[in-house]
This record gives sequence, structure tokens and C-alpha cells, in this order.
Amino acid sequence: MQTLITNIRQLLQIRDISIAKISGLAMAELPLIENAWLLIDNEEIAGFGSMDDLPEIDGAETVDASGKVVLPAWCDSHTHIVYAGNRTQEFVDRINGLSYEEIANRGGGILNSAKKLNETSEDELYEQSKVRLEEVMRQGSGAVEIKSGYGLTVEGELKMLRVIKRLKENHPAAVKATFLGAHAFPSEFKSDHDGYIDLIVKKMLPTIARENLADYIDAFCETGYFSVAETERIMQAGLEFGLQAKVHVNQFTAISGIEACVKFNALSVDHLEIVTEGDIEVLKNTQTMPVALPSCSYFISIPYTPARQMLNAGLPLALASDFNPGTTPSGNMNFVVATACIKMKMTPEEAINSATLNGAYAMGLSATHGSITVGKKANLIITKPISSFYEIPYRFGSDLIETVMLNGKVFK
Ligand code: NIG
Ligand code: FE
Repeated sequence: MQTLITNIRQLLQIRDISIAKISGLAMAELPLIENAWLLIDNEEIAGFGSMDDLPEIDGAETVDASGKVVLPAWCDSHTHIVYAGNRTQEFVDRINGLSYEEIANRGGGILNSAKKLNETSEDELYEQSKVRLEEVMRQGSGAVEIKSGYGLTVEGELKMLRVIKRLKENHPAAVKATFLGAHAFPSEFKSDHDGYIDLIVKKMLPTIARENLADYIDAFCETGYFSVAETERIMQAGLEFGLQAKVHVNQFTAISGIEACVKFNALSVDHLEIVTEGDIEVLKNTQTMPVALPSCSYFISIPYTPARQMLNAGLPLALASDFNPGTTPSGNMNFVVATACIKMKMTPEEAINSATLNGAYAMGLSATHGSITVGKKANLIITKPISSFYEIPYRFGSDLIETVMLNGKVFK
């Protein structure tokens, strides 16, 4: 079946298939066609061009997009969509003056979510998570990475990964699974870090690999969580089971974790609220994608990733939501893009490059997602009538999405 979208005000992010990611000054450009058409054949983009050269296409269903902008669906490369319950009480505690660290030290934070998750059945966890995945799909996300990391027990981690697998099987968005057993040390392993890492490496990983439950491995490399040496052990074990690393690093402190991640050829380094000159140097000319999570900075009032400094140094950058119950209870990529423009001084062109093609790269999907390219998945956002794509971040609180298409079909 074919669908022809006509009279598109602006068709954004047109790229050759050979372009896997965009870096540095090139991020300032967002290739587009004004007054365009786009042809979808089954699940894929089959052609596009200017309305001035619209070929004869027989039998396609036509959609008139007069005044509307069409762009690739968002590629959200960092989420924790699978969790149980919520952490509204911690939200109020923070308003009343407690810090994220103080709450975590009282047994809140990740351990609070882990307790809830281990008390929740797999079916119930699936139902709660499905609501969130479908919400972000309606908000324009067409590819989503989802992490485990709220189990912190063999059973709990496997339960999360099985839920991610079910979400993937039952939804048209592309889903990548990341094993984050190294998210925090459970209280019984507080003084036995090696014991918990042994559990990850010897018990969790072999089962996960055998059941093919994860695409990537992650660790929270941070003061008070996993040290650089401990993170290296996790990354090494991951590689032995065929899992490349995507790592939480430099959220609160810079402890040379980025250097270790680059050494292990991590696919991405994520958070980066605190970045040193040395970190930027280390990332230059590597295949590792830096990923910023501005909604997290917004929600817990921590610094924003220094995007300008990084782009000026020639680095690429991806933007993701970090959707999770503690630091970012929102997976709205429209808000992420707007916040990157408003708070990180990224231009709309840079922010959209970061949230589409570079996001796809950060989850190993840039061959199939993240740009308007013949042969890629027809995962599209069609906006309401707007004057130009600049309105997307400018009208930061508005819902400007009219239609989301995933694998060539309207997602409702
Ligand atoms: O990406 N920083 C580590 N992990 C999550 C938050 C975890 C939580 O508080 O539940 C994050 O921000
Ligand atoms: Fe995260």
C-alpha cells in the first residue's frame, strides 16, 4: 500500500543513507525541501521531492499536508520507561529543600523504585509501562531505548527486560533494550561491591545473553555509585557477552569516566551535566556519541550539558528524554528539543539533528531511522499548520503534532 503526502510546507532532515551522525558545525544545517511531497510504500519511505516535480503516482492514498511540517519521528536513545509506581513524594521532598543525594541516602531514589518494582508482577509492570510508551509515541517518538536497572536482583532485572521485550513485540516503535543492573548497589551489597558486580557478571549477564534480552549494557558511573574501575569491569563483561556500552556518566561529578567509556568504545556517554575540557578532548575523533538529557537538568535543577562548548569543539550531540520516575518523569521529546534551544542555546536545526539522526545513532538505528531517506522506516511527525519548523521549540508548551506515522501507518 502507498501513501502520498503532498503540499508539505517543509520536509525536514533529508539525508543520504551514508550519513550516520552529524557533528560540530555541520549540526547547524538541517537539510529541507520547501513545498514538498513524500511517498510511503508499506513501511518505508519510497521517494520525496519538490511539488514542482511531483511525478505521476497511481493508486496511492493522498494526504494533503498544506501548511504543515513533516519530519522524522523523534529517536529517544535514553529512557527508563519500565518502572513501577512513581516517586511523587520525593518530588515534594525536593521542593521542600532535600537534594537528590539526600533523598537517595535515606533509602529513596533508585532503591525506592527497586523495592516497588520487585513487589510488582510482570503483567502489572507491563501494563504500567505500556501506558508510558504509548504516550511518548503519541508525542512523536518513533524509536526508543529502554533500560532495566530498577530490579537490582536477578529476578527483578530479568522481569524488566522481559517487559521491554514484550513492549517491543507489541508496538510499532523501534525499541532497543539496555541492561542496567549496575544502576545502584542494593543495601545488602553496600559494603560488598565486588559481590554485587559478581552477581551481575556471573548470574545476570549469562541469562540475559542466553535469552537475548538486551542490546546494550549500561552502568551509573558516578561518585557514590559505580567507580570508574567498577564501570570498566561491567563494560568488559558486557563486551564478552556481545553487549556494547552506553553509560550514565558525569551527571553530578567528573571522575574520568568518559575516558574509560571511550577506551571501551562505548556507543554513547549520557548525561554530561558536568563536563571538563579534558572530557571534550577525549571524545574528539571517536565513535562515541555524547547524549544530553535536558529534561533531567530541568526537573532536578542541575546544570545543563555545555552543548555550545562541545559543538564548537567539533563533537556530535544527541538529545534524549531520560524518562524515569526519579529525575525526569516525562518522555516528551518536544519539550526536550525546546529546552535544548532555550536553556542550552542550541539552534532549532542543531536540536532537531540531535533528537533525530544523532539519537538514532546513539541506539544503533541510524541505518533505518532518524532521517528522511529512501528505504528508511516511514516514522514521521506531521505537525499542525505552522509557519516554519522554528515554531516547534518556540511554542514549547503547545502540542503541535497532528499525526504520528510509524512504519508507514498512522499511530492512534
Ligand atoms: O538517568 N542517574 C541515574 N539514573 C537515572 C535516575 C534514576 C532515578 O532516580 O530513578 C537518571 O537520571
Ligand atoms: Fe538515565
